[in-house]
Amino acid sequence: MGNSLRAAALLAVVVLSILVSLLVTSVQQLGTRTFSNASAPTSYGEEEEEQREVEGALRRALLHQLELRRRELVPLLLPEDENGERPDPDSVLGYSPWNEVTLGSRDLGCDSLVDMQAVEVLGSGYTKLVVRARLAGARAPVALKLVNEQGVDMSKCVEDFKDPRGCRELVSYKLRREMILLDRLRHPNVIQLKGHCAGVQGGGGGGGVERGRVAVVLEQGAPLQMIQLLQSPWEDRFRVCLDLVRLLHFLSRSPLGSVGLLDFQPRQFVTVSGQLKLTDLDDASCEEAACRADEDCTLRFPHRNFSLPCSGRRLCEGLNEKRNIYNAYRFFFTYLLPHQAPPGLTHLVDHIMNSTGELKADIDQTLEAFEHILQLYTSGLHLENLLPESIIGDYAVMRGTGTSGNVEYRCWPSYSQQGCVLSVHDAREAAYICSSHSQCSSFTLTGQKTWTGRLLASFRSGFDHLVPDGTSEVYVRRTKAPGAPSP
Ligand SMILES: *[C@@H]1O[C@H](CO)[C@@H](O)[C@H](O)[C@H]1NC(C)=O
Ligand SMILES: *[C@@H]1O[C@H](CO)[C@@H](O)[C@H](O)[C@H]1NC(C)=O
Ligand SMILES: *[C@@H]1O[C@H](CO)[C@@H](O)[C@H](O)[C@H]1NC(C)=O
Repeated sequence: MGNSLRAAALLAVVVLSILVSLLVTSVQQLGTRTFSNASAPTSYGEEEEEQREVEGALRRALLHQLELRRRELVPLLLPEDENGERPDPDSVLGYSPWNEVTLGSRDLGCDSLVDMQAVEVLGSGYTKLVVRARLAGARAPVALKLVNEQGVDMSKCVEDFKDPRGCRELVSYKLRREMILLDRLRHPNVIQLKGHCAGVQGGGGGGGVERGRVAVVLEQGAPLQMIQLLQSPWEDRFRVCLDLVRLLHFLSRSPLGSVGLLDFQPRQFVTVSGQLKLTDLDDASCEEAACRADEDCTLRFPHRNFSLPCSGRRLCEGLNEKRNIYNAYRFFFTYLLPHQAPPGLTHLVDHIMNSTGELKADIDQTLEAFEHILQLYTSGLHLENLLPESIIGDYAVMRGTGTSGNVEYRCWPSYSQQGCVLSVHDAREAAYICSSHSQCSSFTLTGQKTWTGRLLASFRSGFDHLVPDGTSEVYVRRTKAPGAPSP
């Protein structure tokens, strides 16, 4: 328990110290407002009575809000039974997932926050503060999500209810909701929930952490850099799109039903070792929109509207899935997919662009189309009939060698800034590429591979001499063949 108390104190200190530097001005503003009102009272008795009544009313209103938020979480914890009915929320309060949520997890819970190191702010928003930290029980640094004590949500609440503690608890429900979603929606393309620490209702028992305080511990990723991606090889851009489609496929039939991502921006995603992960679930909707007529089920986008039927259950069924697909098309595919697609795959890419841009394919068909492209690309089948059989004959191969004194040239989009490094299926594809670059006189296959298993080949204009290298092979162009294909 000693550790837990230290964790509690630490959590409070971390939040405060980070924010002091961030938002001194808004604290000052809050301070002055409180002061000017506090100095107002003139007569005692009546006013005091009135004051107490107001406070009581505010307190009840806040408690009511807290109860509403608590009930909103219940459907996420308890799935519907076969009849589409959910158990009575009041019956679940002793239920173990609920206790998990209110008490904190065993692994990377409150105790792990003791001795937390290297704290750095990664971002702050209306509700949340995200910091990077090293925890005792975790090998890699993690991201901690905390209530942003100086965020808009918190200051609005304090203005309304004058109760910082209660407000912290109220605002923390957004974090708790997100945490439950992360727990229920575990998938390789969703950021991993590693643990959490939370203060309990009424204090005591929750590891000594003050009520309303919550910290969610997540795996840390790198922000998705669209500009950088636009300049990356097609293979890497395709990976982001494929990961996204795998995620949307999972979300369309998740344990919580069909989940729609209402705020679908690249900044909701990060990458972990090149893999795309959804990191922000604030704006995930687990319910389909209710409707009375078909008009209620129109999907509106800046340049396109789509209409869906209102089902017999008075729901816009499939709306979440369709919205997700179209958003993937407009925010990701249009920028990342068609540009520089490999020649043997362009017709398949065009087909995906059209079927998602027109919402003609559902997520199953879209995933199938993506996996088909991946399979062709990794097997090299897309190159069949594109590469002349004989082209490799134009090159002399030296196995077990590398080169030194290289004369490099640049190509785009290269895996290396210094020279021309591209991924190829095999030596034949590399030979085809070398023959299409007028500067190319030789290339090396080093055995290094990309995420699809394709080989990295370095192309160059010349080199001084060969050196022994057991892992690589050098291909030297015999002649500058006049019949070489143009790029
Ligand atoms: C201060 O007083 C003004 C008017 O008297 C009132 O509108 C406002 O809500 C009060 N603010 C606080 C923080 O009590
Ligand atoms: C979409 O619908 C809205 C409202 O019905 C309409 O104002 C808008 O022009 C439509 N947009 C397109 C691209 O059809
Ligand atoms: C899909 O193809 C049709 C017919 O070729 C074309 O009219 C339409 O603009 C295309 N839509 C998209 C989103 O590419």
